[in-house]
Amino acid sequence: MRIAIYPGTFDPITYGHVDVAERAAKLFDKVIICVAVNTLKAPLFTGAERVELIKDAVKDIKNIEVEEFEGLLVDYAKKKKADAIVRGLRAVSDFEYEFQMALTNRKLCSDINTVFLMPHENYTYLNSTIVREIASFDGDVSGFVPPNVKKRLEEKYRDSKTKLRRK
Ligand code: COA
Repeated sequence: MRIAIYPGTFDPITYGHVDVAERAAKLFDKVIICVAVNTLKAPLFTGAERVELIKDAVKDIKNIEVEEFEGLLVDYAKKKKADAIVRGLRAVSDFEYEFQMALTNRKLCSDINTVFLMPHENYTYLNSTIVREIASFDGDVSGFVPPNVKKRLEEKYRDSKTKLRRK
């Protein structure tokens, strides 16, 4: 069985991520989307919330599992007996960072290869920060994220505005 892990912060998952996950699910027997705790980021959604949003977004793809993980990616990959790490490559600007991560991971664990998949060109400009920013100003994110994510973003920002008003 060929297993791939698809790691990321997914704060929140977008149609670009879903597109990469769908492509990976066609290439591997099992894909584990793993929601990473990135120490450099302060996510809007908790790990558990991000897992829940991803599960709902990919519920129709039978060979995808979703988990949260903390620690080194290569350790997690070994634990899951993964053959590959999947990463999306959207534009040339992604390359340097991805190149560094892929080579570092390979240095840490020579058995694990990184496979790069290009999302549909409609999503190459997307990232989660842009989506959060649009949603925070009550903009329409329906073209960028699945309906469940749109709803949760609206709730998050409504709650935080209510809290701010109370202060
Ligand atoms: N569609 C839309 N957006 C995409 C995308 C796609 N297909 N692919 C990536 N993005 C966006 C993400 O939304 C994210 O946007 P943001 O910065 O606005 O939040 C950005 O591109 C970065 O992608 P992401 O996959 O979230 O990368 P990351 O840098 O947060 O995650 C980890 C990197 C978590 C995989 C990495 O830090 C890691 O492996 N951590 C574990 C610790 C470890 O092993 N470290 C050593 C690694 S060498």
